[in-house]
Amino acid sequence: MDTKQMIDLCKQHTMYTWGRQGGVAPLPVARAEGIYFWTPDGKRFIDFNSQLMSVNAGHGHKKIREAMKRQIDELLFVFPGTATEPRAKLGQKLAELAPGDIDRFFFTLGGAEANENAIRAARMATGRQKILSRYRSYHGATNLCMQLTGDPRRWANEPGTPGIIRVMDPMPYDFSFGRTESEITENNLRYLEEVIMYEGPQSIAAMIIETVTGTNGILPPPAGYLVGLRKLLDKYGILLICDEVMAGFGRTGKWFACEHGPIVPDLLCMAKGLTSSYAPLGAVGMRPKVYKYFDDNVFWGGLTYNSHCLGLATALANIEVFEEEGLVENAAALQAVMQEEMARLKAKHPTVKSYRNIGLFGMVDLQKDSQGTPMAAYNSASEAMTALGQRFRELGLFTFVRWGSFMANPPLCITEAQLREAWAVVDEALEVTHPYFEG
Ligand SMILES: Cc1ncc(COP(=O)(O)O)c(C=O)c1O
Repeated sequence: MDTKQMIDLCKQHTMYTWGRQGGVAPLPVARAEGIYFWTPDGKRFIDFNSQLMSVNAGHGHKKIREAMKRQIDELLFVFPGTATEPRAKLGQKLAELAPGDIDRFFFTLGGAEANENAIRAARMATGRQKILSRYRSYHGATNLCMQLTGDPRRWANEPGTPGIIRVMDPMPYDFSFGRTESEITENNLRYLEEVIMYEGPQSIAAMIIETVTGTNGILPPPAGYLVGLRKLLDKYGILLICDEVMAGFGRTGKWFACEHGPIVPDLLCMAKGLTSSYAPLGAVGMRPKVYKYFDDNVFWGGLTYNSHCLGLATALANIEVFEEEGLVENAAALQAVMQEEMARLKAKHPTVKSYRNIGLFGMVDLQKDSQGTPMAAYNSASEAMTALGQRFRELGLFTFVRWGSFMANPPLCITEAQLREAWAVVDEALEVTHPYFEG
């Protein structure tokens, strides 16, 4: 099929996510390997966002592909009430990897379903209904997850299910306002306790957080926040759900981002990096204090494709690759290289305002003047950011440009040399933003 026909048919007969259909310009992709992918006419791209921050092991890993093929030949689908070898092995493996006493898992097809089922379990186990979530968050596109989500993708999906209380994040939107991290933590937790008091702690089942906020800014929590939050929620018997759909599986330099706290959430949601997106799979991990309730009470939830053998076998092979190739350790080791490269860009380009990363989870914010005015306002595009996105494409670098910032989330198999090569492309691309700097 020629490329134009492929694009035209995709646009004519399929719907694209999160966009005005008349405005979509799909990027044609023919093959992918490691940190690269290629268009049908052979143009190479560095995948600087691991697609949707999800191809953590890198593209096309032979070991994972072969495990998938073996599973296809052996057994694919049996109903969720069966016992299978990949189910047994993955449950056991995740129990070993997950922090603390999280040792039982409910399998889903992706992140939103993991969050949905975590909320369901929390509500049933506590007998309470309300859920706390934060504004700077994305939790998935199902109806409930849209209401948990704080960002503008929620607006068109309202009004939704009642009982969701959204609260401010620990990091204020303009986080350059000069307080120490400890002060920020203290203020936010004091405010949160007040909200809990007004809402009635006895009616709040759980709070859901992205342990490190993803799309809404790649925001590691300020010092002491996770430990303080854990303590505060415990005081009121409110469960903590960590949504690690994006931050989990090595992205931050640890298997799970909550280990940075260090804390153990009551429910831990994962997807994306669990299979490096080679097959759809999500999971909710639970502590005994949650799942014991279901020993004697029905878990009122199910999915046709719960524990699908292909997803489970893919996850097992993916985890083996992580272990054999030290991918989590690589993400931790390259954290310093990311910081060094971003600091270099800030020193060179007047349009670079701020940057941050934890492991291989990073973001750079651009400014249009030396007062730090964002290059594009909240929920807006700008000519400069569009030009930057186009320049990335021309230079063969794939990443997401969002509002006044851009993402830096390469696959965890990236080498130091490849990482520096990617930042050199970013460096070149940033030149196009200079004419937009107002001084
Ligand atoms: C933090 C977080 N939670 C949940 C989701 C939803 O996952 P899925 O798209 O697999 O349903 C995403 C997807 O980007 C995410 O980043």
